Amino acid sequence: MVLIRILPSWAIPEREVTPPSVYYNRRRFLKGAIAAGIGATLLPTLGCQDRSISSAKLASGTKPLEASPNPQFTDAGRPLTAEAIASRYNNFYEFGGTKSIWQAAQALPTENWKVEVGGLVKNPRTYDLDDLRRKFPQEERIYRFRCVEAWAMVVPWIGFPMRSLLADVEPTDRAKFVRFTSYYDSQVTPGPGFHLGSLPWPYTEGLRIEEMANDLAFFATGIYGHTLPKQHGAPIRMVIPWKYGFKGAKSIVKIEFLAERPATFWNTLVPSEYGFEANVNPNKPHPRWSQATERIVSDGPAISWERQPTLPYNGYGESVAALYTG
Ligand code: MTE
Repeated sequence: MVLIRILPSWAIPEREVTPPSVYYNRRRFLKGAIAAGIGATLLPTLGCQDRSISSAKLASGTKPLEASPNPQFTDAGRPLTAEAIASRYNNFYEFGGTKSIWQAAQALPTENWKVEVGGLVKNPRTYDLDDLRRKFPQEERIYRFRCVEAWAMVVPWIGFPMRSLLADVEPTDRAKFVRFTSYYDSQVTPGPGFHLGSLPWPYTEGLRIEEMANDLAFFATGIYGHTLPKQHGAPIRMVIPWKYGFKGAKSIVKIEFLAERPATFWNTLVPSEYGFEANVNPNKPHPRWSQATERIVSDGPAISWERQPTLPYNGYGESVAALYTG
């Protein structure tokens, strides 16, 4: 089917998943860290000071962001991924079909950003970034991140739980689903260079309202101690740690509360591969990737693509499994 061929980077063989730029940036990060006097023993598990070093070097166009760590989410059970890696290995199809879109993504215009929230709510609102930061206390949460392509990272997000927004807009009883829409302007976000027919832009994702109300569902406005760089979905994106990464739409401009399940980007393109629910599940193979294990994009001095067993719900089952009984 033609549609499947328009997903080249998700289809690349595992041996090709690490582009040279990742190796290059890892070496650059290690060189920078060594020059800054960080002992090699500290490198595998990056602490706060390591984060700020990598941030200073890499996060152009971002600003420091104050946030208190949420004590429930300070340890993801794995070392934090170096920012040098996380910020150079991205999926943002509006800016291209490879992992190396970070430079192209700098074209995203983030000034005067507004997020319109409406549909089946008592209090429709349009927030700007200041409103969001003022209304919803920002906290830091370290979450495991799992892509459907079977790679995984650990990322320190800053932002606020989605349920705070629910409390502000008050969905009506008829609201059962939520659609999240990403920024799209064909002049700015040309998409991948492999257009075969039209992709269903803008990028949209959806949740059941109970999923959005779960404490883990998060809006990120920052990462690694500063505002989000554009390639991560500035200035605000979704983070749903128990689901595959494609559920976390970037650069959100609109949130709509609906009675019916919305159509979403990947699910519309290839429903057999990208389900609406998309919970991380080691026992449910993707047609092109086993999900039994995952590759940790790791931070050790040696380049390693260590594999670990995939955890059901990405290890967050205790908090979310009850959403899926029945
Ligand atoms: N959001 C938009 N708007 N466009 C995208 O292409 N890619 C998704 C998700 N959100 C995507 C998106 C996928 S497939 C993944 S794995 C994550 O973003 C990657 O997030 P990261 O690049 O910040 O690690």
